[in-house]
Amino acid sequence: MQPHPLRRGLSSASPLPSLRGLLLVSPQELGRRPASWAAAAGDAEAELRGVREDVKQLLKATSCHPILVRLGWHDAGTYDKNITEWPKCGGANGSLRFEIELKHAANAGLVNALKLIQPIKDKYAGVTYADLFQLASATAIEEAGGPKIPMIYGRLDVSAPEQCPPEGRLPVSYRTNPKVAPRQEIVALSGAHTLGRARPERSGWGKPETKYTDIKECQDEDLLVLPTDAVLFEDSSFKIYAEKYAENQDAFFEDYAEGHAKLSNLGAKFDPPKGVSLE
Ligand code: HEM
Repeated sequence: MQPHPLRRGLSSASPLPSLRGLLLVSPQELGRRPASWAAAAGDAEAELRGVREDVKQLLKATSCHPILVRLGWHDAGTYDKNITEWPKCGGANGSLRFEIELKHAANAGLVNALKLIQPIKDKYAGVTYADLFQLASATAIEEAGGPKIPMIYGRLDVSAPEQCPPEGRLPVSYRTNPKVAPRQEIVALSGAHTLGRARPERSGWGKPETKYTDIKECQDEDLLVLPTDAVLFEDSSFKIYAEKYAENQDAFFEDYAEGHAKLSNLGAKFDPPKGVSLE
């Protein structure tokens, strides 16, 4: 992760071209944790640590940090705070493993992220998809040089595609007032766009050769700036935070880590109820 929110410089580190268009999973039964999992807290921790090590190896081998971060965000970001019932409220519940949700327009390309981490899921059957997605995302941020995210684990998975959220809950790039979080959090979380890129064949944004930029300067008209990113330096209610993070990496990291952890818990149901920490 680069020091400045939205200062882009890393070229694409996302999925290997050879993986495009692959994989349709039907893991209805996968992702269910054995009933004894919560009781055996030590085992759960050991498994989660194993997962974390394997994710680190995957990151080293493929540099897939950006798409794993996007995967975690798109599982959690479907949360609707007006719905109290789980899993109707959406959020970090592993529903993004199902084909029906992977086919939502906003999730274009994320099947490649699932393909990358499915072998880790197969190896650690007791770990849920919901935890795996969030663990992979947080580990990707940390391994990319970002802050340590104060994560907890123990998220339950939904078990059937019928439990997936309806399409349209994630924010879209041309609507510049996303309702996912309070303003300060949106600005901090948008700093995740310091990683990765956009692809015309997925979101429709970007060009095959898209580069990334420090959007505060906007020096090169070829560089991609999503409307939701540009507004961070245009609208005064966002700008106050964007300027602060541009000046102060410690402040950015602190608020990003807190916002990311909060995002990763949206809509999640934990077993045990207080979750499991690896620290
Ligand atoms: C505020 C609302 C947001 C909008 C409208 C938005 C939109 C987008 C779009 C259109 C792309 C390009 C996807 C592609 O073409 O493959 C993208 C990429 C990405 N987004 Fe967001 N995003 C938002 C928030 C977030 C948040 C909160 C995070 C994480 C905390 C995040 C992480 C990423 C990452 C890491 C990529 C790069 C993926 C890659 O290179 O494969 N985004 N986003």
